[in-house]
Order: sequence, then C-alpha cells, then structure tokens
Amino acid sequence: MAYAAFRSIGAYVPSKILSNEELSKMVDTSDEWITKRTGIKERHIAAADEFTSDMGAKAAKLAIERSGLKKSEIDMIVCATISPDYFCMPSTATIISTKLGLGNITAFDISAACTGFVYILSIAKAFIESGMKKNILIVGAEKLSAITDYSDRGTCILFGDGAGAAVISATENKEEAIIDIHTGSDGEFADLLMTPNGGSGSAHDALEQEATSCFMQMRGNETFKVAVKTLTKDVIDILRENSIQSSDIKHFVPHQANYRIIKAVGDALKLKDEQVVLTVEKYGNTSGASIPMAINDIYESGRLQAGELMLLDAFGGGLTWGSALVPFAPFKK
Ligand code: UT7
Repeated sequence: MAYAAFRSIGAYVPSKILSNEELSKMVDTSDEWITKRTGIKERHIAAADEFTSDMGAKAAKLAIERSGLKKSEIDMIVCATISPDYFCMPSTATIISTKLGLGNITAFDISAACTGFVYILSIAKAFIESGMKKNILIVGAEKLSAITDYSDRGTCILFGDGAGAAVISATENKEEAIIDIHTGSDGEFADLLMTPNGGSGSAHDALEQEATSCFMQMRGNETFKVAVKTLTKDVIDILRENSIQSSDIKHFVPHQANYRIIKAVGDALKLKDEQVVLTVEKYGNTSGASIPMAINDIYESGRLQAGELMLLDAFGGGLTWGSALVPFAPFKK
C-alpha cells in the first residue's frame, strides 16, 4: 500500500506591512487592544496587482524546488483559498499550475476557509493512498485584504495576505507516513463568519448591493468560544485515537487566528512553549495560508528536522475544523 509523506514546504509573504499603529488611524482601535486580545502586531498586504495565484505560485515553486522533484513529476495541484483570483472560475489552482508550467495536470480549488490546508492535506493523502496520484502540490493562498472591510474594526485588525505550499508524495515507508487527519464541519454556525453577499444566495439584487457587503463579516466572540471548544476536543481526540502523547509532538502548528485560542488549546494539551509554533504576531490571520506559512517559518529557521512530528489544527468559516498528525519526511538525499 502507498502511504502519503509530507516532503517539503515553501511560503511567500508580500513585502508591504500594515501595523497596528497604522490601523488605529483607520478605525477606532489601538495597538494595545489588538495586541492584548489577539497577539497580532502586524500583517502583510499584497500589492494591488499581486493576486492570490501570484503568491501561491511563488510559495509552490519553492516547495517543488525543496522537494527535489522535477516539475514534470507533480501530477495534481489543489489550492485552498477563500480569496480566489476570480469569483467561481477559473480556479486559482489552474492559474498557479499554468504560471509554474506544470502541464495539463488535475487542478482544482476547495473552500474550507481557515481549515483549508488541513482539508487539502486530507485530499492529497486520500488520492495518494488510493494509488491515483504520486506527487501532489497543495497550496494555501490568500489575498484577504481584497475581501476585508477596512471600516470594520471587528475584522480588519485580524487578517493578512500570504501563501504556503507543500509537496505530498507516495512512499512505501510507513515511518514517513502522515498518521491521521480529522476534518469536520457544522453549517448550523454558517452565519458566524461569512461573506454574506455576492453569491447565488444574493444574486437577485447583487447589482444593488454595496461593495462592502461582499466582504467578510464575523461574530468574533461567539466564533472564538466555538473555536476553543471544538479545537480542544478535536486535538485531544486525534492524539488519543492514535495513542500519541502530547509530549511526543515536536511542533504544534495551529491556525494562527488569535493567540488566546492557540494558548487555550495548547494549555489543554499541556504543551510547553517551545512546542507551540507562533506566527500570528507578524502575519495575523491568513486563513488557508496560515499553517503552511507557519511550517515554513520553522523550516527556514532550522527548527524543523526530518522525522519530527507536527500536530496541525485549524478552525474557520463554515464552520469547519480539522487536525492532522504529520511527520516531516523530506526525500532522503
Ligand atoms: O480564523 C477563523 C476563525 N476566527 C477566529 O477564530 C476569530 C475568533 N475571534 C476573535 O479572535 C476575537 O473574538 C476578536 C479578536 C475578534 C474579538 O475579541 P473579543 O475579546 O472576543 O472582543 P469582543 O468582540 O467581545 O469585544 C469586546 C469589546 C467590545 O466593546 P464593548 O461592547 O465591551 O464596549 C467591542 O466593541 O471590544 C470592542 N472591540 C474593539 N475595541 C478596540 C472590538 N473590536 C475592537 C477593536 N479595537 N479592534
């Protein structure tokens, strides 16, 4: 049987920084409030002519180079995004594929908001274990600044832009295999975090709508409470089901939405600070891109070594959530 191995990581962060100080000149907020309630100090914002696919392609190029594979060996690309280049079609995955010259491979996007990377990881795992594909490029890429209402202090302080990508490959070696992935959802909470207009649910009066009504809206405090409860249960379950102790986790890589959510889940698992990967301070919440951007951070700083076990967890609009137990398994040179 083929197993799925997490071979490589890459990321791209746009150069422009939007600080808490700058935001406090745009809406009624302060560096002190944002830092205390979220842990965020700054976020990166893409240039006007820089699209989600541009950022995704840069992250993906790095991930392919670091995997050691040739571009021609990649046989599928899946992109997780809620800020695609184009509404409905074409998919951002097809655009990234063409920008990278990957040929006529299977390419599609999925929508699972901030849980997107865990969802595409599970899709890659399933395609590889079924024998249908061998080397899959997964990309989480977001230009959230394009769907953020910069007059709403409840959301605009949170979100940033960026991209991360990974190559997942078939292996016969069970030691290298992704151990388990959980994915879940509950549409009962759909209205907690949504872009309420612009889709078929509002097509009847789309032309009359304010542009801002297509931006993200969130009932933050309610979302926060469901996130902590759901994620805590999910990570405890995935560890128990796989007979893994939290002390066996080398890197806990949570979706970077809010430091307080990360801390609550980390405390529930009794994790030490050095096990918890934090990038929320410098990137804010980049939705589907946040986990691969965080993995790339520990990779580039030399903290992520072959064989080390990562626990990923994510929560987002839908509502959706997920977790994954993933050893880092680069090809042996
Ligand atoms: O990534 C996908 C999933 N997303 C999440 O998991 C995000 C979850 N939610 C959160 O991170 C937090 O709920 C927020 C950071 C969005 C808000 O923090 P909070 O501690 O839940 O604040 P709150 O919404 O309960 O608001 C507390 C107070 C309110 O004022 P009053 O009614 O007490 O006078 C808000 O109006 O803080 C006020 N407030 C702000 N004040 C200054 C809300 N946003 C701001 C702001 N600056 N930016």
